[in-house]
Amino acid sequence: MEKRILIIGASGQIGTELTSFLRDEYGAENVIACDIKEGNDELMNGGPFEFLDATDFNKIEALVLKYTITDVYLMAAMLSATAEKHPMKAWDLNMSSLFHVLNLAKDKKIEKVFWPSSIAVFGVTTPRTKTPQHTITEPSTVYGISKLTGERWCEYYHQQYGVDVRSIRYPGLISYKTQPGGGTTDYAVEIYHKALQEGAYSCFLNGNTKLPMMYMDDAIRATFMLMEAPSENITIRSSYNLSALSFDAEEITESIKKHIPDFSISYEPDFRQAIADSWPDSIDDAQAQKDWGWKSEVSLDEMTAIMLKHLKTQYQ
Ligand code: SER
Repeated sequence: MEKRILIIGASGQIGTELTSFLRDEYGAENVIACDIKEGNDELMNGGPFEFLDATDFNKIEALVLKYTITDVYLMAAMLSATAEKHPMKAWDLNMSSLFHVLNLAKDKKIEKVFWPSSIAVFGVTTPRTKTPQHTITEPSTVYGISKLTGERWCEYYHQQYGVDVRSIRYPGLISYKTQPGGGTTDYAVEIYHKALQEGAYSCFLNGNTKLPMMYMDDAIRATFMLMEAPSENITIRSSYNLSALSFDAEEITESIKKHIPDFSISYEPDFRQAIADSWPDSIDDAQAQKDWGWKSEVSLDEMTAIMLKHLKTQYQ
């Protein structure tokens, strides 16, 4: 049967690029973008778009029926830093939207679900380096608690109701096309913008806080690989560890200096430092490699070259 895809949260950082990728892959008319807010011109004009509040079950169901949707990608969420400011709102958005989509799958109204988890499921008691797939998960943030809870429900819906749900624990994602909104890893995007605009950046994390990161193209490719993999290959129904890069602000600064030698960085850690300190510095993704052939492609220096090249034309 033909795929008909609904992307909830399509105007956001991942959603924008995922929509564009899936429209190329499956045909623009088969990929319905929706969000509570408008997206960029390409998103709004490149195929069907609908306004949707991800907490509104009736509206999601109506769109699923209207477009005979088979697969839902639920990308709407409140990220780590914003969620600390609005704990109950974050919990409500992150959890209710997931239940809505899982229940549609349980009732066989859709066939397949993609839902992103995060490195935020880990906490200070987790082994920090090369964090294994199965390990201690005691998150200290509202966002991390919502993602960990979501993972348990995904596995439960798979075990109890046979729901075909697939998930990735994304690291910090970096892209020139869209800005992140309200995360702890956002500095790794802001730094490129500021390097070009001002030649200087004041970083809200310390210089030596290593975090797992990934260039957006790798993340989109991983998502596609996971969703295309035969169901019997998927041994993890909570969420897969996924790894590409691991760097701190000093290392990304060195990488930028290869292009902008005068670039300077200063450090003013704020409340996000404690969040970053609770997360791993690198991730073991052996299971994703084994189950669906995952391998990252883009290095820090390659990413820096791509980011600066494209952002330069945006700022000219
Ligand atoms: N990039 C996200 C954040 O910082 C992690 O999932 O909140």
